[in-house]
Amino acid sequence: MNPIKVGLLGIGTVGSGTFNVLKRNQEEIRRRAGRGIEIAVVADLNTERARELTGGTVDVVSDAHDVVTRPDIDIVVELIGGYGIARELVLKAIEHGKHVVTANKALLAVHGNEIFEAARKKGVIVAFEAAVAGGIPIIKALREGLTANRIQWIAGIINGTTNFILSEMRDKGLDFDTVLKEAQQLGYAEADPTFDIEGIDAAHKVTLMSAIAFGMPVQFDRAHVEGITRLAAIDIKYAEELGYRIKLLGITRRREDGVELRVHPTLVPASRLIANVEGAMNAVLVQGDAVGATLYYGKGAGAEPTASAVIADLVDVTRLHTADPNHRVPHLAFQPDELSSVPVLPIDEVTSSYYLRMRVADQTGVLAEITRILAEAGISIDAMLQKESREGEPQTDIIILTHLTREKHVNAAIRSIEGLQTVLSPVTRLRMEELN
Ligand code: NDP
Ligand code: HSE
Repeated sequence: MNPIKVGLLGIGTVGSGTFNVLKRNQEEIRRRAGRGIEIAVVADLNTERARELTGGTVDVVSDAHDVVTRPDIDIVVELIGGYGIARELVLKAIEHGKHVVTANKALLAVHGNEIFEAARKKGVIVAFEAAVAGGIPIIKALREGLTANRIQWIAGIINGTTNFILSEMRDKGLDFDTVLKEAQQLGYAEADPTFDIEGIDAAHKVTLMSAIAFGMPVQFDRAHVEGITRLAAIDIKYAEELGYRIKLLGITRRREDGVELRVHPTLVPASRLIANVEGAMNAVLVQGDAVGATLYYGKGAGAEPTASAVIADLVDVTRLHTADPNHRVPHLAFQPDELSSVPVLPIDEVTSSYYLRMRVADQTGVLAEITRILAEAGISIDAMLQKESREGEPQTDIIILTHLTREKHVNAAIRSIEGLQTVLSPVTRLRMEELN
């Protein structure tokens, strides 16, 4: 059988990884797919670099529109990134009857509903394994491997850049900017690293996982997003003293009244496997009602780990190319007419445990007043740490860990605590998850 023909859009970090792995493992991949997978054309703005990378073996063009309309191309691989030209090209490729493979989580988290609907109408596949957790086959696991389960929650370290930053800052005492630059040089960071450090990239990914896990449309605009830029080194230190690590987690949880969808720095017990995931590694913990907890771990970013997922999709699409579209796995795991309208809950309604740190006057009765406010709000205390005040400084830090409560209750209590004359700083509030 003739090889299936691929048009590659963008030969940067992931594009070049994909080109190289496909070339290196060509024969093995052909035996798995049942036919060869051949990159026939590459589009990149920098055609000179693209020619160098491909060694003159394929057509190179500067205008990606020429690729998505070329009649000999069966699959378009979009590795440009962003919501602009990428959206236009993906929709045009679908319109021209091409299957699409993409690593672009930003595009799918924001425009996924439109793109999946266009693909469904045209009977083509949009595959996106590389869009979540790089080389970890988490989309496959959620859509197929765990299909028997009613998934209860997912919690993941799904941004390599921020995990790398947190690990390097903690282990080597390096400063934020130095580590971010290193992550950029290693090819982990997004074109705009704000997406990484402000939690947006992780929110794109957890949004996609949430849609697949709970069978609902993609709703990035409803996700609560906090990054690591406002995280203070002192909280990383106090968390350690209390037996916790701080990780940027993407969390989605099914509740009776809706779905939680959130990204924020989170205290996790240091004894949990996920708390020990370091560097650019990713890990996703999925709780299903039948299987219990399953954990997926691996490289979440970088050229070849991500290429591994892109090529897995290429093989899948090649195998399914001639199959009846109705017999394919639906894009969001559930049949398109079976998606549910379950609401994404506002952050105020989220249930979590909390870490509260405050600077107080070191005098009699302060603690009693704070605990009275928490008790009146129905918030139960799990643990507490009071630092000794420094000589000549009648102030100290108090850290309180709470049991589970609604976010709106803890916010109300914080407002009252901050109104006390003896509380000298705003209260730092971080969420904690036991993940058990
Ligand atoms: P890069 O910036 O390294 O590569 C993008 C490539 O696309 C560059 O070569 C760029 O050329 C080219 N390009 C930009 N605009 C156009 C255009 N209009 N037409 C043709 N080519 C164009 O990005 P990555 O490889 O890192 O990321 C690609 C995608 O993969 C993104 O969606 C990203 O989020 C996703 N991803 C990335 C991972 C990673 O580890 N890097 C992991 C998982 C997903 P030029 O450089 O000249 O602008
Ligand atoms: N910027 C992303 C990260 C790339 O750091 O995880 C992988 O999606």
